[in-house]
Amino acid sequence: MLIRKNKTKLSLKAEYNDEKWSPLFFAELEKVRDPRIALRMLDEHWLGKRNSEEIEFLIDGTIKQIKQSETFKLERNRLITEIKREISFNTPPKIVELGSGLGLNLIELFLAYGNQIPLISLEYAENAIEFQKKLFANLNISCQFGNFDMFSPQLPEIANGGLVFTSFVFSLMPLTTYELIYSLIKATPSVVIHFEPLFELNQGSRRVERDIRHYIDLNDYNRNLFCVLEIFQEEGLIDIIRVEKNVCGVNTAFPASIIIWKPCL
Ligand SMILES: C[S@@+](CC[C@H](N)C(=O)[O-])C[C@H]1O[C@@H](n2cnc3c(N)ncnc32)[C@H](O)[C@@H]1O
Repeated sequence: MLIRKNKTKLSLKAEYNDEKWSPLFFAELEKVRDPRIALRMLDEHWLGKRNSEEIEFLIDGTIKQIKQSETFKLERNRLITEIKREISFNTPPKIVELGSGLGLNLIELFLAYGNQIPLISLEYAENAIEFQKKLFANLNISCQFGNFDMFSPQLPEIANGGLVFTSFVFSLMPLTTYELIYSLIKATPSVVIHFEPLFELNQGSRRVERDIRHYIDLNDYNRNLFCVLEIFQEEGLIDIIRVEKNVCGVNTAFPASIIIWKPCL
């Protein structure tokens, strides 16, 4: 297992921004015009073409055997279901992803809503933003792009009134800062959805929970996001409206939980 102690802004930059991608694959991807095919190519790039081998997959707290080729799609679908659920209560004027990576979640949202709800993609890695700009233009997806660094968060009006979500991003920061959550509150989103592994919810003696704690410790992932949000709630600054533990994980030792909150006005 990879042991990466003390995740820092620099180590994250090395891990994400300086990563070298296969130029041949990306040249092929640039020819694609259909978002569904682009998603499939990206999944196959990392999981292997039509890999029918079954692997362990954590879904709603239980480990199941799932075809490897379906795992990424299932994980994204779980997040998208949650976003759609919130949108069914209240359609936001925009959807903002913080730390959007290669933009796969945003492509799924485009498939669900077309250009009906404006999409905003904020990322830290410049190469990922450049990649998204080209890919989205080829796929005819309109989206606004910008920079976001959770270590020095600046979230001006861009998130105002929008549905903001994160997926496997805040969990990369070993300790969530009050500044990060406060900057999100100040940006006055209508709702915030985190699809992130939550250390504090996994303090039990079951093997699954012990493995999660061990993995987070070894890799120096986040240990306090849930507690920090609870403190903001106790201070009357946010309302936590839903928490669901270990809903989905391609990596069973690092599954996403869901926590949804709203700033108190
Ligand atoms: C595991 S990927 C998740 C990408 C995307 N959210 C998804 O679910 O497919 C983690 C993302 O966090 C981004 N990231 C790394 N350091 C960051 C930072 N300091 N601030 C914000 N995002 C960062 C990486 O560039 C990468 O896109």
